[in-house]
Amino acid sequence: MTKNIIVAIDGYSSCGKSTIAKALAKYAGYMYVDTGAMYRTIALYMLRHGIEDDRQVVASLNEVKVGFVLTGGAQHATLNGEDVENAIRTLEVGNRASEISQIKEVRAYLVAQQQAMGEAKGIVMDGRDIGTVVFPHAELKLFLTASPEVRARRRFDELVGKGENPRYEAVLADVNERDYRDTHRKESPLRKAEDAVEIDNSSLTPDQQMAKVIAIFEERLAACQ
Ligand code: DC
Repeated sequence: MTKNIIVAIDGYSSCGKSTIAKALAKYAGYMYVDTGAMYRTIALYMLRHGIEDDRQVVASLNEVKVGFVLTGGAQHATLNGEDVENAIRTLEVGNRASEISQIKEVRAYLVAQQQAMGEAKGIVMDGRDIGTVVFPHAELKLFLTASPEVRARRRFDELVGKGENPRYEAVLADVNERDYRDTHRKESPLRKAEDAVEIDNSSLTPDQQMAKVIAIFEERLAACQ
């Protein structure tokens, strides 16, 4: 039987992590976990309940059950059983997620769940700290990058596609602000693990990127047999 491995994918916001992670999971027949969705789900709960204070956020964690359901083949995040996949994809929730992800207890709460999900291996997980904190011994670590302008354009198109009416400059400012917060926070800042393979996809088509990732995956899988 082919050995199952853990694939950890980290990188900046809006650089296509989830697209590539989903595609790789499908190719490999692995489970896919979007950890950003988990931080977003907690953020949504705090926004809905008007919880702003960090200590109150921590005190409310036990009221928040983060999960996933498969709906029509797609993975949707759930908040206490409610499908919140659309509700968590707004700029507001993304920004609140970036804030609450700086709280040590929030990270510990989600990291424990993420590690449990990877126990059986055969998993592709994407986020900011997967290769550094969640699975420091993952067999394959990828670190995705793209220029802020390319990422802002992709995010802009995605929001427009969802019926939102953003300004490009605001989206770019948001990308830069989130990068700063994600890389400068005290708790598990975003950084490339030393043994991660870096892929700058600014000028790669999705197909080119996928071909590259599959080649790296197959090579690593063969080396692990
Ligand atoms: O990838 P995303 O935009 O859905 O993530 C939302 C926020 O959650 C992001 O600003 C940083 C945070 N996050 C994190 O701190 N650690 C992770 N493993 C995933 C996301």
